Amino acid sequence: MKNGTTAAVERLRRDRNAVILAHSYQPPEIQDIADHVGDSLELSRIAAATDASVIILCGVRFMAETAHILAPGKTVILPEPDAGCPLADCIEVPALKTMQEMYPEALTVLYVNSPASVKAESYACCTSANALRVVEAVPSREVIFAPDRNLGTFVSRHTGKRVHIWNGACRSHAAADLREMRARMEEWPDAQLLVHPETPPEAWELADEVLGTGGMIRHVASSSCARFLIGTEEGMVYRLRTLFPDREFMAAGLIYCENMKKITLQKVLRSLETLGPRVEVDPEVRRRAYESVARMTEVSG
Ligand code: 13P
Repeated sequence: MKNGTTAAVERLRRDRNAVILAHSYQPPEIQDIADHVGDSLELSRIAAATDASVIILCGVRFMAETAHILAPGKTVILPEPDAGCPLADCIEVPALKTMQEMYPEALTVLYVNSPASVKAESYACCTSANALRVVEAVPSREVIFAPDRNLGTFVSRHTGKRVHIWNGACRSHAAADLREMRARMEEWPDAQLLVHPETPPEAWELADEVLGTGGMIRHVASSSCARFLIGTEEGMVYRLRTLFPDREFMAAGLIYCENMKKITLQKVLRSLETLGPRVEVDPEVRRRAYESVARMTEVSG
């Protein structure tokens, strides 16, 4: 039976003409009530296309900002205003401009995990699902890739372009414990290991596949393997277990994003009641960031 909070969320979501979007790193209770659960690219595309008047973005701030850049006429709400992203916070406009002056021939490809103000200074954004394709698609031989150094390294190993990599990282993924990964591999020797490209290159050496979260889902769907070890934020293990109840999944060591876990069902309900806290990107920043973000949504994942 549904509890009172869930029933109230469902009622208010209809009354407000709201859509609830949740990233695959969200807690189970949020994934369970969301209209759509997806990766950064899928959530951006849904935000851009939705008919709903209100977007409740269950994720972190840069995701809500991206939704507002793509859908400025909508009310975009981040149920916990403090849900930030330390990776996004590791880049600011003046430092990027200095790097752009050092490499005047390079176009800037910016991982979507970044502030809106920095997106406004970039040529194209990307997510982990399409980073390589975006870099290949930009009309320059030289690229600045920011702010995640591991994803940048992954891209640079697979492209013939010259890539200048910003030295930032997701602290949860970058701290992936290789000893723990090896221990899980010994426990489940028949399992495939899937790791996110934000993990360090040493983890990729151990893995069967290096994939974003959407890529992990597509890989499992097309694989005949029965067991998988998952090297990304632990919410993804719940997501995969929900989608594929006939397979087995185990975290390949603890990768935990405390910001993603700041969203609760109570906060979602409060957001629907109050239509806040809203995320609004400054109109001039939005205007300058729009093209870069739109280029990201046009490239397949
Ligand atoms: P995805 O591109 O798989 O959604 O990854 C998002 C992310 O923020 C990883 O930390």
